[in-house]
Amino acid sequence: MEARIVTLLAFFAILNCCYTLHNGKVVVCNYETKAHLREGQGKFDLAALEPALQYCTHLIYGYAAIKEDTLKLVPLNEQFDVIRDNYRHVTNLKVKYPNLKVILSVGGNEDVTGEGAEKNLKYRQVLESSAHRLAFINSAHTLVKGFGFDGIDLAWEFPETKPKKIKTGFGKFWSSVKKTFSGETVIDEKAEEHRDQFTSLIRELKTAFKPDNFLITLTVLPNVNSTVYYDPRGLAPYVDFVTLQAFDFYTPQRNPKLADFPAPLYDLIDRRPDENVDAWIKYWLNNGFPVNKLILGIPTYGRTWKLDEDAKVDSVPPEGLDGAGAPGPLTKDAGILSYPEVCLKIRGGTGNVSPSGYRKIPDATNKKGFYAYKLPDGEKNEEGVWIAYEDPQTAASKGAYVKSKGLAGIALDDLTLDDFRGVCSDNKYAILKAAVAAL
Ligand SMILES: *[C@@H]1O[C@H](CO)[C@@H](O)[C@H](O)[C@H]1NC(C)=O
Repeated sequence: MEARIVTLLAFFAILNCCYTLHNGKVVVCNYETKAHLREGQGKFDLAALEPALQYCTHLIYGYAAIKEDTLKLVPLNEQFDVIRDNYRHVTNLKVKYPNLKVILSVGGNEDVTGEGAEKNLKYRQVLESSAHRLAFINSAHTLVKGFGFDGIDLAWEFPETKPKKIKTGFGKFWSSVKKTFSGETVIDEKAEEHRDQFTSLIRELKTAFKPDNFLITLTVLPNVNSTVYYDPRGLAPYVDFVTLQAFDFYTPQRNPKLADFPAPLYDLIDRRPDENVDAWIKYWLNNGFPVNKLILGIPTYGRTWKLDEDAKVDSVPPEGLDGAGAPGPLTKDAGILSYPEVCLKIRGGTGNVSPSGYRKIPDATNKKGFYAYKLPDGEKNEEGVWIAYEDPQTAASKGAYVKSKGLAGIALDDLTLDDFRGVCSDNKYAILKAAVAAL
């Protein structure tokens, strides 16, 4: 009799849990709090956030930081997070959205210190002794519990892979790149130790979080090589899920002379074999990670490169690139545009050319992604631009991929760069909704 009641209770506990929305899939919504600093239509406050929440099972608060001297977890922006109480305002949203889990994320390429070999060294130092790990874990527990979060996400800032370099001018560079740079340069001599210590950190974190049932999730950042830093089988028992940010293989900052589709689903000719979504997913699945804990990240922005006078754009990769494109009017960062910034440039027009002169290149395969470009116009003194971007259609392809592979769900990166005001159409959060609908 008692056993039956326990079973029944467990059954209801599962029903109540977060994993029942959207066909049983997890929808992780990343929220970059720095977007409150943007101006005008780009400003992202809690009123802008709310319309997204009915679609999200998890809201990830970006970001917390590691303090260099103590290696403890601390707020990234004390003034905004704590003094202006944004932590509390966000975790209090659970009153209105009782199924929502709110998770505090550490790292995410927003907590950056040092340069060269010292860049983000503290992320490796935390791992290197059990005393350091303990200091980090205790401070994480205090922060999560103290502000009412449901758990922690580790978007750990491991060293990135070295970007491809172009030695020859353009022309036959793509094939020469392949030959010259397929050998990896060592980026972290203690990589193997760091990988094992990271698994220890997660195991110890699990022990500390268990009494409160706090969630532990991981986000693998773009250009962090999973085969180097993550042991899927070893991590599996201790994490609730892992999000793979399998995009940004080429960025104008890392690759000023080389551009590509934003996040191709499958292997394309002449790329490194792990520069696509499917290769990342396969690495995790083939190395003992459960499919029902694996989540695919979907970007909500475009990357832009400047085009020179003699650019050749009839194929991908294009030739004649010259670093990051001009900042967008809302996001004001070189080389990146939010989805609404992209759509305002490319929408409308006839024959695939928008009124502002961008030619849109469709992708009949639904596997590569979209790009659009505008050649430089010397007379009007206008810069040429090449944009690789995600939009509702490419996000839906990724949602469909997740469904067909039986993965746990998707993670939007991030809400603040989606069309949260509905300027592209009257549809707020078009990318989020399209991806969710495909699940
Ligand atoms: C990732 O590391 C593996 C070796 O573990 C290497 O073969 C591969 O080329 C690396 N990928 C990138 C993009 O650097």
